[in-house]
Order: sequence, then structure tokens, then C-alpha cells
Amino acid sequence: MNNNKIGMFDSGIGGLTVLKELRKLLPNENYIYYADSKNNPYGEKSDSELMDIVTNIVDFLISKDVKIIVIACNTATTRCINRLRKMYPDMIFVGTEPAIKVACDKNYKNTLVMATPGTIKSERTHELVKLNKKRDQKITLLPCKGLADAIESGNKDNVNKVLHKLLDKYVDEDIDSIVLGCTHYPHAKKNIKELFPKAKLIDGNKGVSKQVKRQLESHNLLSDSTTHGKVKMIYNK
Ligand code: DGL
Repeated sequence: MNNNKIGMFDSGIGGLTVLKELRKLLPNENYIYYADSKNNPYGEKSDSELMDIVTNIVDFLISKDVKIIVIACNTATTRCINRLRKMYPDMIFVGTEPAIKVACDKNYKNTLVMATPGTIKSERTHELVKLNKKRDQKITLLPCKGLADAIESGNKDNVNKVLHKLLDKYVDEDIDSIVLGCTHYPHAKKNIKELFPKAKLIDGNKGVSKQVKRQLESHNLLSDSTTHGKVKMIYNK
């Protein structure tokens, strides 16, 4: 048993969609959430810039005695998690990846994967396609430049403008599923659904929270508190 906090971070409000699922599954845990809006968008940073940013956050969270770190960001996960695990062998990291496996396992035939340019470029995303796609399945990887920052800045008109620019060419393509491969995108679920009313929207957030629970259980780190936990927010603006 261990009542230290669960540490989490993202380039702003995206990871709150992960936090929401985590709090449903692990309500008695305490959380510390680092919202790094100042460095948004991660998806348009170089590898070395992104590594510098995330190692600073990891150091900060470790200084707060967190028992596990949840990377509530697909971009930082697909591009940095392997190196972080090597740099911090005593820390447990759980990442967030585009839910390509879920779409393939559920036998969708025509999937659009929306993610940041950084995630789409990453080796891990291409590996996920290679490992999971069956012959009769089509997967289109769509780099959504500008979408995470439009969502982060909260300008709804701008979010719609960016969505139309990115998605209009796919609306007549019989897309049956859309992977929301960036934790910011569930905030725009309604707008995306309006463009693709028949498509199933898939994010990996439930899967991430289950993985956090499994890791805490297997390391005997679950909280033994019987009351609702708290969330401490840190904003880097
Ligand atoms: N929310 C993040 C993700 O899941 C990053 C968005 C960004 O800063 O580009 O990829």
C-alpha cells in the first residue's frame, strides 16, 4: 500500500480526459496533474526539444514523491517513453498511445487515425499499424497540425475551422471508425461526430486507466484510503 500521488502530465488540458477515466476507476487515489500549456503544441516540437521538456516535468513530479507517472499525451508517449524508462529505471511509467489496436481488434474496415504530426511521424505509430492491421482493413494516418493548440486555446470557431480543413475531404469516404490519437481531441468529440455521424470514435483513455490500476496492483502501490482522493493542478502557462 502506498498513499503517494499518481503523477500525470500533458501539454495542457488534453490529459484531463485521461484523468477523468482514472478518477472513475481509482477514486481514492490522489493525483498531481502538470498542465504544460506553455509548451503546447508538443506535436510540433523536435525530438530533443520534447525530451528536454518532458525530463524537466518528470524530475519535477519525482521531486513530489509520485509513485507512478502517467504520460497523458500520445505525442510524449510515442516519442519519449522508451528513453524515459531507460533514464529512470526505478519509476513506473504508463503511456497513452493511439488506440489503433482497439480499432483493428473490433474489425473496423476503414479507420482514420487523427493525431499530432509528431505522433503520426513516430516509429511507434507505424509499428502499431504493422502489428495490428489485417489485410482487409484500411488505416489512414492523418497528421492534425493546429488542432491540439486550437483546442487548448479554447476558441470554438477556430476548432471548427481547423476540423473542416482537415476532415472535409474524408466525409464521403465511408469511414467507420476514428481513432482520437491525441488526448486533446476527445474535447472536440461532438464536432467530429457531426462530420462523421456513423463512425465510432475511439480513444485509449479507459485502457490507460486499467493499465495504471494493474501496475499499481502488481507493485502493491494502491492507496488504502477509503475517502475520495484529491487532484492538485500545476499550470505552466
Ligand atoms: N495531448 C497531446 C497528445 O496526446 C499533445 C498535443 C500537443 O501538444 O501537440 O498528443
